Amino acid sequence: MTSKVVYPGSFDPITNGHLDIIKRACSVFDEVIVAVFHNPQKKPLFSMEEREKFLIEATRGIDNVIIDKFEGLTVDYVKSKKAIAIIRGLRAVSDFEGEFQMASLNKQIDGEVETIFFMTDTKYAFLSSSVIKEVAQFGGNIGELVPEQVEEELMKKYHIYK
Ligand code: PNS
Repeated sequence: MTSKVVYPGSFDPITNGHLDIIKRACSVFDEVIVAVFHNPQKKPLFSMEEREKFLIEATRGIDNVIIDKFEGLTVDYVKSKKAIAIIRGLRAVSDFEGEFQMASLNKQIDGEVETIFFMTDTKYAFLSSSVIKEVAQFGGNIGELVPEQVEEELMKKYHIYK
């Protein structure tokens, strides 16, 4: 049996922290589906298509990753793909409460879907899509923190020309 997992998230945009989790998950599982969640209640900076495009570009060369998008419940999506688990990255202790709640809720909705956590590499412990957007907005250097294409597109979005 092949081990297929789903790594869901907003990925608005993907950071090097996400990419690190994707690579590590790909080295453990046979197939990793990175699934961008479409949340109609949120106004993301990047469209679904842009977020998917960044993920495809950033994971080029990894042969057991699939980039996809979904709406609705994560557990339903996981089941529809016949995957065995949800992957999430865990950064500082502050992440624990929210992730614990999400994993418990998902377990309650569907007891068959497990959540597996990867501890974020300490060099990305401070990193999130939100802080990236904030730093980029004010012209800070994010070159080491996001894939190249994301850096370029963020600069364009915020009209920063260097
Ligand atoms: O990158 P994020 O924003 O931390 O990802 C959150 C995400 C998309 C994994 C979470 O909001 C989610 O699973 N949404 C789908 C709807 C759902 O299943 N909700 C119940 C569990 S919170």
